[in-house]
Parts: sequence; C-alpha cells; structure tokens
Amino acid sequence: MQVQGTASGAKEADVQALAVAVFQGEKVERGLLQELDQLSGGLIKSVLEAEEIKGKEGETVLLHLSKAQGIKAQRILLVGAGEKSDYQLGKVSQMAGTACRFLRSRNLKSVAIVPRAEGEAQPVAARVVEGAIIGLFEPDKYRTEDKEKREIERLIVLIEGAAEEALRRGVEQGRIVGESVNYTRDLANEPGAYLTPTIMATRARELAQEFGLTFDVLDEEQMEKEGMGSLLSVSRGSEEPAKLIILKYAPPTPPGKNQNELLALVGKGITFDSGGISLKPGENMELMKYDMTGGATVMGVIRAMAQLKPPIPLLGVVPCSENLPSGRATKPGDVVRAMTGKTIEIINTDAEGRLILADAIAYAKKLGATQVIDMATLTGAVSIALGDVNVAILGTDQELIDEVIASGREVGEKFWQLPLDKEYSKQIKSDIADIKNVGGRKGGTITAAAFLKEFAEGLSWAHLDIAGTAWGDEAKPFRAKGPTGIAVRTLVNFVRRSVENSELA
Ligand code: BES
Ligand code: ZN
Ligand code: ZN
Repeated sequence: MQVQGTASGAKEADVQALAVAVFQGEKVERGLLQELDQLSGGLIKSVLEAEEIKGKEGETVLLHLSKAQGIKAQRILLVGAGEKSDYQLGKVSQMAGTACRFLRSRNLKSVAIVPRAEGEAQPVAARVVEGAIIGLFEPDKYRTEDKEKREIERLIVLIEGAAEEALRRGVEQGRIVGESVNYTRDLANEPGAYLTPTIMATRARELAQEFGLTFDVLDEEQMEKEGMGSLLSVSRGSEEPAKLIILKYAPPTPPGKNQNELLALVGKGITFDSGGISLKPGENMELMKYDMTGGATVMGVIRAMAQLKPPIPLLGVVPCSENLPSGRATKPGDVVRAMTGKTIEIINTDAEGRLILADAIAYAKKLGATQVIDMATLTGAVSIALGDVNVAILGTDQELIDEVIASGREVGEKFWQLPLDKEYSKQIKSDIADIKNVGGRKGGTITAAAFLKEFAEGLSWAHLDIAGTAWGDEAKPFRAKGPTGIAVRTLVNFVRRSVENSELA
C-alpha cells in the first residue's frame, strides 16, 4: 500500500473514496462537513438528520455522489468517531482502521482519510497510518480459499493546512509502527509446529540482519553454564530445545546523558503451552500457540526502534521454550535452582511462564539492564480481573508504571495497575524450597508477579500481563479477530517519551 499525506482540501483528493470522521450528535453547521454537504447536494445533512448514522464509534455510511460537482472523490464514507471530547489519538487510529476495513470490503483501491482531529499534524498522521495498517491485517496466511485478496493500493492522509514535513514524518512513523504491530501479530498467529523456539530464534536473527541489530542466542548447554535451571526445567519435556534470544538496538550516536541506564524488554516465548504434566483441558488448547506473544511483542518493539532510531539503546531478551509432557518432563513436586541461586518448588507445571522469565530477567540484569519491563501471557486470572479491556501492570517502580500507563493512554491502549504488597509474597513461600511457582487461587495475577519480583531485585521493574488482551475473540470494525499486537504501540511511545524526558532534563 502506497501511503502519503496531503495538506490540500478534501475536494481535491483524487481517490475513489473520502473517509470522514463524524462525531456523536454532530450537526452540519460549518467547516468541512458543510462544504462536503453542499458538494453532495445535501446528502450529508439528510443522512445525519435521518439518523442513518449517529456518529457512534464503529458506525459507517457510504454515500455515492454520482452527480457531484467540484469534488474528485465519487464516494464519501462517514465514519462514526464517538464523542468529540473523547476523540484522542487512539480513537483516530480506530477511525482509520474502521474506514479502511469497510472500504476494502467494498473493493475500493484508493482512499483518503480525513481524521478531523485537533492538535499537531505529525502524531495525528502517524495514528491514521498505524490504524489503517493494523486494520487491514488479516490472519489468513494459511488459507487457500476465501483469502482476503482485495487491497487498498493507495492511502492518503488528509489534514488541511498541515506542514508537509510534519505529514511526511507522521506517515513514515505510522508505517513503521503499524508494520511492527502486524509483525508481532503474525508471529503470535503462527502454529506451534511452524514456530518452535529454534525457528523463533531464526526469525530474530533475520530481524537483526534486516535492520542492523545485534543478535545473540543461548542454547541449552550455555543456559546450563549460566545456571538457568528454572528456564531449563520447562523445556525438559520437549524434543525441541529451548533458546534464549538476545537482541540489542544501539543508537547511531551513543547517548550523551544517562550512559549507565539500560532499558530491557523481556518477553515470554512459550511457543506452545500444553501445561506439561499438569496438562491443560483440551478446550481452547489450540490457542496456546500464542503463549509467545510477550516475546513477539519485544521483537515488534525492537523492529520499530531499529527504524525510528531513538538516541537511547534498547535490549530485548526472549526466553523461548515449548511446555509439553513426556517421560523426561519436570513433575509437580520437583525442585529447581534458578540462575540467581534461588530454589523453586514446582507445584504446577502449567505455571511455566514465570519460570522462564525468572532466568531471563536475571540474565537481562547480567547484561547491564537497569530498567526492565517484562511482558507475558502469564495468567488466566488476569481475564477474570480485567477482561479483555485492560492489560494488568504491576511492579516495583511507581514512576515507571505511571509512565507506561501514560504512554498507553496516548496511543489508545489501556493498562490497569494491580497492587503488589509484600503480603502477597507469603502465598509463594514453599515448605521445602525458597519459593514455589503457584500461590493458590487468590489473586493469581498478583502472585505470579510476586514470583517475578523475586528475580527483579535491584532493578527498576514493571510487569505486563497480556493474557487477557493479546487475543481478540471477535472481530471489531477496526481490527480482525485474533492477535491484537497489544502493547507494541505503547512501548514504542514509552521509548519516544523517555527520549523527550531525558532531553528536557
Ligand atoms: N499461558 C498460560 C496463561 C494463559 C491462559 C494465557 C489463558 C492466555 C490465555 C499460563 O502458562 C498458565 O497456564 N497459567 C496458569 C497458572 C496457574 C497454574 C497458577 C493459569 O493461569 O491457569
Ligand atoms: Zn501454562
Ligand atoms: Zn503459558
């Protein structure tokens, strides 16, 4: 898809359809809507008055302007954008996604989107392009029939009067971030057989080669030497060896300030989670191919960084393993020793994510990380607590947590903090080892985080539980069913804001 920005008027756009945001309860009184209404011979006023569209989010009405005069586009798509006061940048992305999905379904090839958002043009243009690219993603790679073959070939972001340079930059940033979100979704969607830990490491190596990142991978022998008994206990039951992927983005010019600070993203990379000896029930087990989404999120963010080139370094650590039962598999009751020396009693082999993350967080620290954000499809309990709306965030550094939440709010991704008082750690005390990997039925998302906290000592640390939000059970007007790519945009924005904050300091 070819994408460009334009600052000229809506009637000038040489496209098949013009997609225009309309707000809830909006009347045709002035400005763009009035201009388009006149050009369309009063069509817009009439559909709004008849309440064919009320302006609610996700609504669409397509108008055909066969006898239109003075406007190049022959169609206007009105796209509900919700309350005007609530129209933040995340909503702009959704509006663009809704418009593109709808217009593609009508087999249209060239589109101009008029977001009608206030504020700076660059971030608005970025969100439009991001939303369009994310909206057009279809998880149908393995279909041979009924594949989505229609394609929007040309997309124009129309912000009247905007500076050309701001538009150009916004479009480019949006493209990079949108494609990186889809990269993460594509990995999340891969069946376990096609994305083993070894293949995931190969994908990471290819990513590094394509974008000039530093790449390293530890095999099981090296993990053994590092004392990663926690991570290795998870891969024991599988024929496929575990891999620990390390990616590093180094800025073109070394950072002037804060030279000793290093942010690491650590992501759970379980390429299939059967539960191991504590076998999961069969229902929905096929979805456990996406238990590597945390790792894919790390890879997506680094992919974006390698192109956006912020002036600060970023480390990515992705522990990858399958979790399967076999005669060699770790059993409930076994005790393993993590890299930090802590001993862990395995109560339930299905609580494997925290076991691989424990060693990965410790390893990130060994590589010099001072700040760690880990992300994982860690607990079913997070869906009970927060549904599929909010990502759970917990951690030991309140400033870091607040900054992630604020970064998410700006791009339309929601995070909700859960408490992590030390009382919760009592639930993971073991009778025979230092800790155990399950804390009982109460507060499952919190006790999982309390477990990770044991390995984040001395770090500024935040944990994201994306188990409830990484997979959309149903399609939305702005996005296909399946992997959502949650948190990629937030973390890219987090890095952008860190750079801004450090420049201000
Ligand atoms: N991968 C699962 C968590 C999960 C559940 C992710 C549903 C996505 C959707 C994780 O490894 C797991 O099985 N957790 C257990 C922990 C329990 C045994 C303490 C769970 O949540 O049931
Ligand atoms: Zn599990
Ligand atoms: Zn899991």
